[in-house]
Amino acid sequence: ASDIEGDLTEVLVTESEIHAKLAELARRIEADYEGRDLLLVGVLKGAVMVMADLARELRPHLNMDWMAVSSYGAGTQSSGVVKILKDLDTDLTGRDVLIVEDIIDSGLTLSWLLENLRSRGAASVEVCALLRKPDAAKVEVDVRYLGFDIPNQFVVGYGLDYAERYRNLRDVAILAPHVYS
Ligand code: PRP
Ligand code: MN
Ligand code: MG
Repeated sequence: ASDIEGDLTEVLVTESEIHAKLAELARRIEADYEGRDLLLVGVLKGAVMVMADLARELRPHLNMDWMAVSSYGAGTQSSGVVKILKDLDTDLTGRDVLIVEDIIDSGLTLSWLLENLRSRGAASVEVCALLRKPDAAKVEVDVRYLGFDIPNQFVVGYGLDYAERYRNLRDVAILAPHVYS
């Protein structure tokens, strides 16, 4: 396998910054959901790293379920067309749901998902996202737990891919333009 360092221009958020932020968010989540049973809904595939690390930071009992939706395909632009590739196994009736995402880019995926999950009779549906690109927003998403606002550049790593690559990077880094142009 080839080395990936040359495909990156700069590290934007380091592994240790990510873990410190997730610990901070976890303390807020524990306080806000005290005495309630939380269902974390991870959005495959980008959210796998956030889900794994956030869930292990959270002390109380919780459930985890997954949805696979995709709006990007192999390109760098959101198509806005959200497709369910795998639905939840869990009945959301009366549940306190926290959607776990890696990034809010245009916001189209999450705004669609929020509406979809809220229509299933959950007691509450909130969002935890590690990253957000304010300058890329096409729709505003009400995100309760946010890690970092980042510039509108193509980032990869810590679950985020370009054409299914780079998800295994420990940091979040900017992808060099020569890779996708
Ligand atoms: C990426 C990312 C978010 C979404 C954000 O997922 O993981 O889920 O795009 O973009 P948006 O705010 O413009 O909708 P993607 O569709 O690439 O699927 P993946 O998680 O499998 O990589
Ligand atoms: Mn995703
Ligand atoms: Mg993707």
